[in-house]
Amino acid sequence: MNNFVFENSTKVYFGKGCVAENLPALTAAARTILLAYGGGSIKKNGVYDEITAILRSTGKQVVEFDRIMPNPTYEKVLEGAALVRENQADLILAVGGGSVMDCCKAVSLAAAYDGDVWRDFWAKPGIIDFQTVPLGVVVTVSGTGSECNGGAVITNQKVKVKTGRDYPALNARFALLDPAYTLSVPRTQILSGGFDTLSHIMEIYFSPPDTENVSDDLAEALMRGVIRDLRAAARDPRDYAARSNLMWEATMAENRVLKLGKQTDFQAHMMEHQLGAYTDCNHGLGLAVLHPAYYRHICEKGTVKFARFAARVWGIDPVGRSEAELARAGVEALADFIRELGLPATLRELGVRSETPLKEIADSVPLTPGGYGKLTHAEVLNIFKACY
Ligand code: NZQ
Ligand code: ZN
Repeated sequence: MNNFVFENSTKVYFGKGCVAENLPALTAAARTILLAYGGGSIKKNGVYDEITAILRSTGKQVVEFDRIMPNPTYEKVLEGAALVRENQADLILAVGGGSVMDCCKAVSLAAAYDGDVWRDFWAKPGIIDFQTVPLGVVVTVSGTGSECNGGAVITNQKVKVKTGRDYPALNARFALLDPAYTLSVPRTQILSGGFDTLSHIMEIYFSPPDTENVSDDLAEALMRGVIRDLRAAARDPRDYAARSNLMWEATMAENRVLKLGKQTDFQAHMMEHQLGAYTDCNHGLGLAVLHPAYYRHICEKGTVKFARFAARVWGIDPVGRSEAELARAGVEALADFIRELGLPATLRELGVRSETPLKEIADSVPLTPGGYGKLTHAEVLNIFKACY
């Protein structure tokens, strides 16, 4: 294991009924709550009614901040920050998925900061040495793991950049995870969220150190779990065991535990984020398109690890195969799984059109040190072309 420091300050409440049971106490000290949510799914599935009834019954002032869009924008963050300031909200309650949670983390910072938040905290890493507005989250769609980290991925439409930063100071104070709240999520979003979780684990796993280590052991167990539970959820979206497992697997993948002692890669995420900045594509679906092409591209450099992935995650028999063959079989097992779930396999299926400026997008992708070597922008473009 490499050296590490571990911190995670979010208190998690998990299970059926956890919102009704715990929200009154968790909001007891707040007077004015910014209730933040997305495009209205919570009004259709009863979650809005349940939460507002709890807040009303305990005498809270509630200010609503709605229509937070998938891939939240910096303008939306500023709108939320203005609402917090005008109403002197002392708690932000984010009810939704990664987009609502991320937007609200940025709002909690922006409402407490006088300078240019994009310039000082997203365009480059900043230092949060002041008190941000407290945040609590209620998760209604799982996948990103945003509920248990300080990550906030924001799109600045003016400069066509979608970027995330993980500030421990932005971790939610509490996270309420009721798997029953996610049962109304449409099938495609269930699969997209689940694939995002799998992607997070792979982005950590495919990086040094490759000697036996606890983080990779946990990653393999989690990957096997996500694959099993995604198959079960695809067969029956109301399978509570599968859906509750997927919810916790999402949190486990991005609560920093798996990253301990690992270099991490996240190059697929960087590519997807810029595709999203230009096309507003769905995050998990974009990752499903990119991963096989990216891994075919780097497989030779990470043969040992891809071979281990094939054997330990997909159960492929190593007998009679060279290490390189086994490694490639692991990547193709992933590609087959994506097709089996009916996730998009090409940029065209993702809605990317022939006039989309793929070279400009490729050139805008931040290059990470990479799990097995740093890409060039020309390689990123080749990966995009291989997916088209
Ligand atoms: O807006 P509403 O009407 O609520 O509909 C949403 C949205 O259209 C719908 N939905 C949510 N809960 C529902 C529901 N529909 C029916 N029933 C429910 N219970 O789901 C749609 C997608 O929601 P969104 O929050 O956009 O999805 P997700 O959780 O996948 O979040 C994606 C965002 O998170 C970022 C992504 O880049 C993207 O911007 N990420 C955040 C990360 C983090 N903070 O750690 C890490 C990730 O890698 C990722 O980059
Ligand atoms: Zn992701």
